[in-house]
Amino acid sequence: MDRYAVFGNPIEHSKSPLIHSLFAKQTEQNIEYGRQQPDADGFNDAINTFFAKGYTGANVTSPFKLDAFRFADELTPRAKVAEAVNTLYKREDGTILGDNTDGAGLVQDLQRLWGELNGKHLLLIGAGGATRGIILPLILAKVNNIHIANRTASKAQQLADMFANEGAVSASGFSDLPETDFDLIVNCTSSSLDGDLPEIAPRIFTNASFAYDMTYKPHATSFMAWAHECNQAIKTADGLGMLVGQAAESFYVWRNVRPLIEPVIKTVREML
Ligand code: ATR
Repeated sequence: MDRYAVFGNPIEHSKSPLIHSLFAKQTEQNIEYGRQQPDADGFNDAINTFFAKGYTGANVTSPFKLDAFRFADELTPRAKVAEAVNTLYKREDGTILGDNTDGAGLVQDLQRLWGELNGKHLLLIGAGGATRGIILPLILAKVNNIHIANRTASKAQQLADMFANEGAVSASGFSDLPETDFDLIVNCTSSSLDGDLPEIAPRIFTNASFAYDMTYKPHATSFMAWAHECNQAIKTADGLGMLVGQAAESFYVWRNVRPLIEPVIKTVREML
């Protein structure tokens, strides 16, 4: 039986073991999936031991995505541009492939909930690792343009510069947003986890049809509630579908089988 685990610190609240056991049941794959919590500086030792013991693959979450990026023998193009790895896979020849499925998880979820992304004007709020991981997959989904707005404008500009050759990506701080309308707003900051809101002008929602928060809570996040206050017609969603979507993409990398995400999202939501 192939064995997998998720690495993070802390890791006890991770939903990945539940999600992958639901995928395994649904697709009749016989796997085992656990969780591992190395010390902050202990990722390399832990992952070496893990693969030496015969495990097949790992998911990697905060704070180890950069360690996993450095650890992999080979990187997929989407992991290379994200400069972060959330999926490790030991191949037949013993080498370790590093992949990043976060962006694919988001794109799948946006398409599921909102429709095709081609031609759309996107606003991404935040310029951390979560934003960097999704830009290329969004460009590949043929969005019209992406504007990154961040509390610290220089970090948004750095990201826009990184992707300048890939597609139309612009940047600003919160106070100097361009005057244009956006179709979709994605909150890529973790502000909702503390019930906070990014200090950005509420007019961003006026002509948008969808606002997506990458974080999730048992009920609507503070960002989703704010989007509704600003525009009653706007559709909103939290990031649970992205979480399940990135897991499904990892499962596909390891097993070459694509699980259905809807029933798994439903079960995990009921358990929040
Ligand atoms: P991650 O890797 O999860 O994206 P990160 O690299 O620490 O985390 O980045 C967090 C992002 O969320 C940053 O863009 C941060 O803004 P700054 O660059 O100005 O620090 C943003 N962020 C976090 N909390 C925020 C809040 N309450 N309001 C606005 N932006 C916030």
